[in-house]
Amino acid sequence: MDKSYDECSAAQRGIQESNEAKVVAAVRKCRMSESDTCFCVLLVGCATGLNDLILVKRVVIPQVVERWGRDLPVQIICADVVENEWQQLFKNTNDVFEKQTNIFVSAVGQSFTEQCVRTGSVHLVLSFSCLHWFNEVPKSVVASKGVCFVVLDESDVAKRDIRKLCDEMLKQFLAARFKELAPGGQLIATFDAETDSIPLHNFGGSTICVQDAIRVLLDQGQLSQTSLQGYFVKTASRTEAEIRSALETVDFETQELAFANAACPYLDEYLRSRDEEKFGREIANAMRSCLAQELVRCLTLNGCEQVDTVLDLIFTTCARLASEKDRQTEYSTMGAVCTLWVSKK
Ligand SMILES: C[S@@+](CC[C@H](N)C(=O)[O-])C[C@H]1O[C@@H](n2cnc3c(N)ncnc32)[C@H](O)[C@@H]1O
Repeated sequence: MDKSYDECSAAQRGIQESNEAKVVAAVRKCRMSESDTCFCVLLVGCATGLNDLILVKRVVIPQVVERWGRDLPVQIICADVVENEWQQLFKNTNDVFEKQTNIFVSAVGQSFTEQCVRTGSVHLVLSFSCLHWFNEVPKSVVASKGVCFVVLDESDVAKRDIRKLCDEMLKQFLAARFKELAPGGQLIATFDAETDSIPLHNFGGSTICVQDAIRVLLDQGQLSQTSLQGYFVKTASRTEAEIRSALETVDFETQELAFANAACPYLDEYLRSRDEEKFGREIANAMRSCLAQELVRCLTLNGCEQVDTVLDLIFTTCARLASEKDRQTEYSTMGAVCTLWVSKK
């Protein structure tokens, strides 16, 4: 089963593409000082980098060249958690920027809640499909059930604690980026949101598909009750009020706070081809590429000796459920995404 992020992230690429015009406008708004020797882009939550680096190459660099000329070096700093697939990032960097001599890419293993680079050194921050991830599960969530899956059916106390944690992380993210950005620097971030008019957050339906698959396997006794004890998809959506309240804690100028229902490329393809099996496979692969690492960690912690077999079982079941008749919209990645664009004065 194909499970590499590069092959299975069409939905995330779609979110980037729908924000290209904003990225262009942000670069056009960036200010450089006389002492700056390069244009510095920080990519927060870069994963394997392919999507982010291609966007920088295709959309950011032409604007930089147009404004400041071809001789200005561009420094790109890729940030993600320590456990990221760094080797793949380095490989992708070489593939994307092959033979381009004035572009310098480096990497930092650091959470988005921390300052990653020198104060005042960054002109543009891009963070796509990242800020909805939280790094620890509040105790009330673990305590509320034996096996935990998605946020939606947690208790009110657990939901409140998750919201509190996510609020705190967003504030820390903004404070860290505020330090890193140079005056006139721009930041664009997309992350899962919730609105009154869009029923689920981005990937919400596909996460439920994984949850349903795990439940089927538990009910059928194909998965032991303890093997996924404490497993939780650590993502949560934010409301406009929560985002605005986090923005009040930093002195950024808000250029735009927009909410959209992100399309699901797998659903779009299904509506053209009516190939249910292909849809099921693609949803399962997309979810596996995002969740496998944490699932492996949890299965190993719980003493599972056949981690790969269990992963195959979960995602084969996920693919089967998503290929059932009339389940495609429900299990699609479609859902609410927020795009935040702020500037440092
Ligand atoms: C869905 S990928 C997005 C990758 C890429 N930006 C894109 O749009 O294709 C989300 C990334 O966020 C990273 N991430 C999650 N929590 C993080 C944290 N606390 N600090 C930094 N990165 C984090 C994950 O490791 C993952 O690589």
